Amino acid sequence: MPCAECTCKDKITKEQWEGLDAVVAKHKSTRGSLIQCLHEAQELIGFLPIEVQKRIADGLGIPVADVYSVVSFYALFSTQPKGEHEISVCLGTACYVRGADSVLNEIQDQIGIKAGETSKDGKFSINVVRCMGACGLGPVISIDGQTHGRLKSDKIKPILEKYNS
Ligand code: FES
Repeated sequence: MPCAECTCKDKITKEQWEGLDAVVAKHKSTRGSLIQCLHEAQELIGFLPIEVQKRIADGLGIPVADVYSVVSFYALFSTQPKGEHEISVCLGTACYVRGADSVLNEIQDQIGIKAGETSKDGKFSINVVRCMGACGLGPVISIDGQTHGRLKSDKIKPILEKYNS
């Protein structure tokens, strides 16, 4: 059942809670299974709000602070629902040396959120990745899985406009 103090914008369904409990039960007796458990929970629910982190901590019998520190350390875990359009910005070395940080800053400025966040209208979320395997095209981003390469800050606005209509 959803907990009473659930603050998630998108409520988690009864079926998702049951699925989460099954995931936790599967990993309960395996030491060092927290990351795998979090992966499966995020796959099931789409994100890892604090209510989900508490449920996992309780189920695995570990402090919620341990769960939180893992969730906040790895960029691939999100505590917010993903946006309609998911933007991944590569900050791997090959992209970084060609100005990926300026590209990320421009995207953050254009949308008005930071990496790891979702825009209030639910349209975009931004995350940072370490390599997309397209280093020769750097700086590279992907939006909904479509790659955009050889980017400069001034190319960002027209790209985002296509997804804003
Ligand atoms: S470093 Fe960016 S695609 Fe490899």
